[in-house]
Amino acid sequence: MSTQPIRSIDELIEELLTLGRISEAEPPVVTRVVFSEADMRARSYVKGLCAAAGLDIREDAIGNTFARWQGSKPDLAPIGTGSHIDAIPNAGLYDGCVGVLGGLEAIRVLQQLGFKPRRSIELVIFTAEEPTRFGIGCLGSRMMANVLTPAQALALRDKEGRGLDELRKAAGFKGPLESVAQPRGRFHQFVELHIEQGPFLEAEGLDVGLVTHIAAPASLRIAIEGEGGHAGGKLMPRRKDALTAAAELILALEESANSTGAIDTVGTVGVCEVFPGAVNSIPSRVRLETDIRDIDHARRDQVLDALRNKCVEVAARRGVSIATELVNADPTTVSDPELVSALEASAIAAGKTYQKMVARAYHDTSFVSCIAPVAMLFIPCRGGVSHRPDEFASPEWIGGGVHVLARTLVSLSA
Ligand code: GLV
Ligand code: MN
Ligand code: MN
Repeated sequence: MSTQPIRSIDELIEELLTLGRISEAEPPVVTRVVFSEADMRARSYVKGLCAAAGLDIREDAIGNTFARWQGSKPDLAPIGTGSHIDAIPNAGLYDGCVGVLGGLEAIRVLQQLGFKPRRSIELVIFTAEEPTRFGIGCLGSRMMANVLTPAQALALRDKEGRGLDELRKAAGFKGPLESVAQPRGRFHQFVELHIEQGPFLEAEGLDVGLVTHIAAPASLRIAIEGEGGHAGGKLMPRRKDALTAAAELILALEESANSTGAIDTVGTVGVCEVFPGAVNSIPSRVRLETDIRDIDHARRDQVLDALRNKCVEVAARRGVSIATELVNADPTTVSDPELVSALEASAIAAGKTYQKMVARAYHDTSFVSCIAPVAMLFIPCRGGVSHRPDEFASPEWIGGGVHVLARTLVSLSA
């Protein structure tokens, strides 16, 4: 059966643009933090599109949303696809949204072609893939896999001190958090479509990437407590400046990520909060949030350990106190070889060029892998740019990804 799109790609692009305009920031900047008013409006918009496609919609207690195209054997575990629609501050249009609206597009095209799935196909919109609000990524999928337990989830707070439980209930997700975890076999198989967030597909002129591994992410929070005071009155030898201590840690992380001998090791300090933040006041407190990744999680852990050791050393030498908190240290995800083969067969049948590759960003698929066989399908993004407003994937790239996904859903659900 041909799965060439009947719907025009322009309709999907229009939907992506509409979703992108639902933002806490002035378009084209997309900011959609979980449980914000923009997140809730974006959810309604996408649920409306799913309902219009005749999908049965259900939400769990953390807001993971399941839109199901019922198969002829509804008792069989469904084929899952989907991604997220939350967006970090100052983001673009495509991260996550291509996997949600592209997954929906694949379903709509198959419906128009008269395909009748045997297994149901379930589109999933995961809650808070991005760590912006609660400091931990893949909140919804992590809870679905019970990697984050309800007790751990209940302890999460945002920067304003508002708890996860209060915020999810205010957003209308009121059931017991215990009901979010799903058993192995919840999905028969799961495939996520996503932009690459790296430069390789575009540089090689390839249509799609078949993800064989997802790099192992970790995050360490660091709280430094020094001694504040007057920037003029307090002489240098007597200082316990929390920010200069932080500067040493930031450079040490860069140094150790650079020195593993592997291009796959990356280390970032993306948050640095300085207190009191006045030009004429010595910083007394600094909070860092660090992000360390590698496709080899043992090597990633060496960088993590080196950073912790550096904290001990800097604290002793500078007379400041440094506390660390491990937010997460997740393993590398390995795709299911059969699913990668199914994606490969679909790419060939669709006449698309491809390569097998590693995902360097993290994805909900990592956690779905705890309960089902998984794989991911990447499309190029311009210049490898992501997590920026100028993130871009062309209609051709998106259409190619949807085409390969649609063919894959046919082969998996038939
Ligand atoms: C998710 O966007 C990540 O940080 O990889
Ligand atoms: Mn992202
Ligand atoms: Mn993403």
